[in-house]
Amino acid sequence: MIQYKNVTKVYGEDVTAVDQVSLDVNEGEIVVLLGPSGCGKTTLLRMVNGLESVTDGDITFNGESIKDLNEIELRRKIGYVIQSNGLFPNMTIEQNVTVVPTLLGWSKEDKKKRYEELMELVGLDAEDYRKRYPHELSGGQQQRIGVIRALAADPPAMLMDEPFGALDPIIRERVQDEFLAIQRELNKTILFVSHDIDEAIKMGDKIALMKDGQLMQYDKPSQILQNPANDFVAQFVGKDRMVKSLTIHRIEQLMERYDLLVSSIEKGEIATVSKSSNLRDVLSYILESKQQAVHVVDENDEVIGQVDFALVNQYMIDLADSNEPVVNP
Ligand SMILES: Nc1ncnc2c1ncn2[C@@H]1O[C@H](COP(=O)(O)OP(=O)(O)O)[C@@H](O)[C@H]1O
Ligand SMILES: [Mg+2]
Repeated sequence: MIQYKNVTKVYGEDVTAVDQVSLDVNEGEIVVLLGPSGCGKTTLLRMVNGLESVTDGDITFNGESIKDLNEIELRRKIGYVIQSNGLFPNMTIEQNVTVVPTLLGWSKEDKKKRYEELMELVGLDAEDYRKRYPHELSGGQQQRIGVIRALAADPPAMLMDEPFGALDPIIRERVQDEFLAIQRELNKTILFVSHDIDEAIKMGDKIALMKDGQLMQYDKPSQILQNPANDFVAQFVGKDRMVKSLTIHRIEQLMERYDLLVSSIEKGEIATVSKSSNLRDVLSYILESKQQAVHVVDENDEVIGQVDFALVNQYMIDLADSNEPVVNP
């Protein structure tokens, strides 16, 4: 859906911020642009919606060069969220959320309806907040407003530049989870900038790891973790990459490979985990458990088996051996 074709960006005479990057972003995918500060992530993002010009190469959106799209078309097709949420301090929450629909000339009733839908989407009371101003909201709430503002005109694509970077870790996890839940329904095509490998693993269907304007590796998180393309990638991912890769595997995937032991332990005697839990969480529960195992429960809270350390270990060894691509949740 979004295609970078040999894209280069030079600022002024000689600052090459982006250096011959080619990248395909498929419809409905979250692609995380990852890398250290100054590696060109923001520049790469802002060239898509015309906030920065392209020095060389081309970017296409559904096959059409973005050079041929005007500002109104870009706003309708691409939502934009930034770290400092970019809310207008002297506009009410409702006015902020409906900025783009206003620019697009929507009727008053349509805007009101859309505002109410979007507030419901993020679990905020539309009436309560309608006439409030951004400074009256918490950081997490402001960032939710920033996200739904970008969704207001229902664009097929979203650009998100470290959207949750200013939030403290606990709120941030919650907003990330909430955003992923929304994305499962909306299926937007998303370019998401981050400098945080953990965030990239969690949010990304794919990760594009950048260094000095160049693309180092573009792959699924599991591949970046298990088969880093070079020393830079291995170093950026860090020494605990096996532990990190546990976070992208879930019990459900383990169950596709093995039959779970039917538990002989009475329900209630040990910790239970949902079958959608990731293996890193499972291991930490097991390590705390006196039984050295945990019960796995289904949607109805029925125990469907148990998982112990040896089984998780076997699964990781089998995966490493087979080297098969792993489906990212
Ligand atoms: N408007 C600008 N003028 C000149 N240089 C810029 C400008 N914006 C960014 N740069 C430079 O381009 C490089 C990439 O910046 P940026 O895309 O903001 O990186 P990141 O988002 O990964 O931190 C940096 O060296 C930065 O100093
Ligand atoms: Mg940046």
